Parts: sequence; C-alpha cells; structure tokens
Amino acid sequence: MKLFLADSAKHLRQNLKKYSSEIGKYESYAFADGERGYRLRENVRGDSIVIMASILPNPESLFEILALHRLAVENGARETRVVVPYLGYARQDRPTRPGEGSIGIMVIELLQKMNPCRLILMDVHSDLIRRAFRPFVTELSALPLIANALIAHPPDVIVSPDAGFVSGARTLQKLLKPKPSLAVIEKVRPKPNVAIAKSLQGDVRGKDVLIVDDMIDTGGTLSEAVKLVSRNGARSVRLAATHGIFSGEASRRLISLPIKEMLVTNTLAQIRSPKIRILDISPILLNALARTQ
Ligand code: R5P
Repeated sequence: MKLFLADSAKHLRQNLKKYSSEIGKYESYAFADGERGYRLRENVRGDSIVIMASILPNPESLFEILALHRLAVENGARETRVVVPYLGYARQDRPTRPGEGSIGIMVIELLQKMNPCRLILMDVHSDLIRRAFRPFVTELSALPLIANALIAHPPDVIVSPDAGFVSGARTLQKLLKPKPSLAVIEKVRPKPNVAIAKSLQGDVRGKDVLIVDDMIDTGGTLSEAVKLVSRNGARSVRLAATHGIFSGEASRRLISLPIKEMLVTNTLAQIRSPKIRILDISPILLNALARTQ
C-alpha cells in the first residue's frame, strides 16, 4: 500500500509515520496563471494506492483529491482507496433559501464518481449525505476514541448541545462506564453563525458534565452550552468534538470559558493549548485501511 497525503492532511504525517506508514511523494506546482499542476514522484503501477485528504473550506482541497486520484489511475494503480478525515461542505446538504442548492451532496457525488475501491469518511455531519453513500463508502467515528480518553474520569452527564447531535451523544453515553445520564439543549439560530442555547432538558446540578458535538466552528454552539449548563449548576464542564474547525477567535473564545478541558481530534490541524487535548485519529484510519485491504 502506498499512501499519498494531500496538503489538507499533511499535519497527520508524523503520527502516521509512527505507525510505520510509508508516505508517497508527489509534487504540486502553480503555472503562471495560478493553474495547479501535480506529478507523482513514485511509480504506482500495479500498486494499491491510498489518498488521504480532507475537504476544507478552500475548494482547492477538493480539486487536489480529484487530481491525485486521477494521477494514480492514469499511472496504473491497481486499486485506489480515498480517506477523507474531514468532509467539509456537509452543512450545505440542502437548499435553505430559493436559489440555493445541495452543495454538500455535490461534493460527496464528486468523490464517489472517482469510483475508488473504498471511500473512508469520518463523522459525517449530515444524514442527507449519508443517504447518498454508495456501497463502497465506510464511515468511521471518533466517538470510541473520545470515550477511551474519558476512561480515567468519566462524566456524570453527557450533554448534546442541540437536537441534531442527540444520537451522537447517545452513542457516546453507551460507550462509557458507568453509563452517564443524558441532557439535551434546545438551540436556535436567529441568523447564520449565531447560536442561542434556549433551554436544557436534564439534570446537571452538581454534576461533571461533558458537552459533545460533531464539530466546532465559531464556537458559538458550545460557548452557549457551557454558559447554560454552568447557570444550571454543573460542577465541572468539559467539551469534546471530532472536527475542530475553530474559525476566527473560536478557540480563544472557548478556552476563556470556565471549562476544565476540550477534547478534539486531529481530523484537522490543531493549535496547542494547555486546555486542549488532541486525540490522534491515525490509528483508526490505518486500522480501517487494514480491514479494507
Ligand atoms: C450544528 O449543526 C453542528 O452540529 C454544530 O453544532 C455546529 O456546526 C457548530 O458550529 P458553531 O461552533 O459555529 O456553533
């Protein structure tokens, strides 16, 4: 197996190497007009090729996956597998106003049209996208990794910061021993990128609370949730999420709150901070690749 890491996943290089994964070489360059060019610097003929790359907000990340995959196929790879730790654009899975479209569905369809032997994704944000999966798609979850990181100090209560993540929170609840209780926040968004935590269903008074979500973007959802559970008497608050996007001041915003710790995986590159515990997804991805060989 030869593994090529696109720019969007290159922060995983050192961790993957720890598990003795050989990373293939390729070059990428820009023409005078800015057009991108790519060239594999490895012979891939007859090989099983893995391309690891996320879909970041910058659409060039999507183009890079398509281009690298094309190079692998044209240069005679026997089979290709594509691993996408973070599938961006999944929040745009349906039009919400006239004139919009399902950009997230377009992205998953483009990836599937490459027709790899396997497309491996992690904690996909949208059920609509999940429904568009073809049989060769495998979705992994970071929730077992998060559960494992909580073994030493399991929380008393798992809180879902909105109705959308209740099933994820329930999954984490079932993975923990002793089994924590569950609380759910009713969140509203008066406008894009603004979240308000309106009410809390469940008891957090005097409890060690873990609020879990699939992603942190502006940090609005989780900071509202922290304030609400604190007002309701939580003894301590921790946060966890698979995808730490942390736009703008989000990480500073969350770190300045009265939280004990924030657990986040490295599906995306993360900053270091004493309050952030980064959980490495590399072993999960490599195990999935070993299983799908
Ligand atoms: C909501 O649909 C998602 O699960 C997250 O709660 C949301 O994307 C987080 O965004 P932000 O950090 O900007 O509130």
